[in-house]
Amino acid sequence: MQKPIIRLEHVCKTLISKSNEGIIENTILPDLSFNIEQGEFTAITGPSGSGKTTLLYLMGGLDKPSSGKIFLNDWEISQMNEDELAVIRNDKLGFVYQFHFLLPEFSALENVMIPMLARGKFGQKQAKERAKALLSQVGLYEKLSSKPNQLSGGQQQRVAIARSLANEPVVLLADEPTGNLDSHNSALIYDLFKRLNEENGQSIIIVTHDEHFASKTDRILHLLDGRIDKDQVLHN
Ligand SMILES: Nc1ncnc2c1ncn2[C@@H]1O[C@H](COP(=O)(O)OP(=O)(O)O)[C@@H](O)[C@H]1O
Ligand SMILES: [Mg+2]
Repeated sequence: MQKPIIRLEHVCKTLISKSNEGIIENTILPDLSFNIEQGEFTAITGPSGSGKTTLLYLMGGLDKPSSGKIFLNDWEISQMNEDELAVIRNDKLGFVYQFHFLLPEFSALENVMIPMLARGKFGQKQAKERAKALLSQVGLYEKLSSKPNQLSGGQQQRVAIARSLANEPVVLLADEPTGNLDSHNSALIYDLFKRLNEENGQSIIIVTHDEHFASKTDRILHLLDGRIDKDQVLHN
């Protein structure tokens, strides 16, 4: 059997804040342990405030656990310093957020090329070819030279997905990527994730409120008060 791509061992996240009554500890994730397998398409669901974003940020090296261990492949990201984490995030992970965060003054093609040129994994020519291929894969070959404000919300999000794939991430992490879109465009985005998983074997972890879409993935991790309330393997 292959090694898991992500492994959590007794991960706890507690936020500490000060108030008039003194120091307040707020435990968001009390104790999480689970594995994510290579090529798996996982949906994280649960009510608002249940800790989905906190969990995704921990898995993406955007935040650190208060205790416990997190591994991405064989790298223990929970004990890395900020510089090491930045390298992991740029080289190994792809992120898609609710808002696309495209650079407004650059074309779709340039937005997808920039992370490749920044990391230096691909040369200029190769980055351009690769960006074209990625944009064509998300159905935007006709829009290579369009600026973000010349694209619809759904198209902008598809550029963001192409960009997230730029450096061949070992896992793609998406936090409610359709939260800002209508149902038609949401469906297109979901189809796209499904296709990336099926055709490219891309490992994907997606936070979603959409139960119908979650039911089309391989696995649903349902969170309640920072605990796994249900871990459901689906047969799609
Ligand atoms: N930076 C923060 N400061 C204070 N509380 C936070 C912070 N981030 C998250 N929380 C709290 O942690 C809990 C989980 O938040 P979050 O992970 O954003 O949940 P979800 O994404 O499932 O809505 C919530 O109760 C939220 O208020
Ligand atoms: Mg959230």
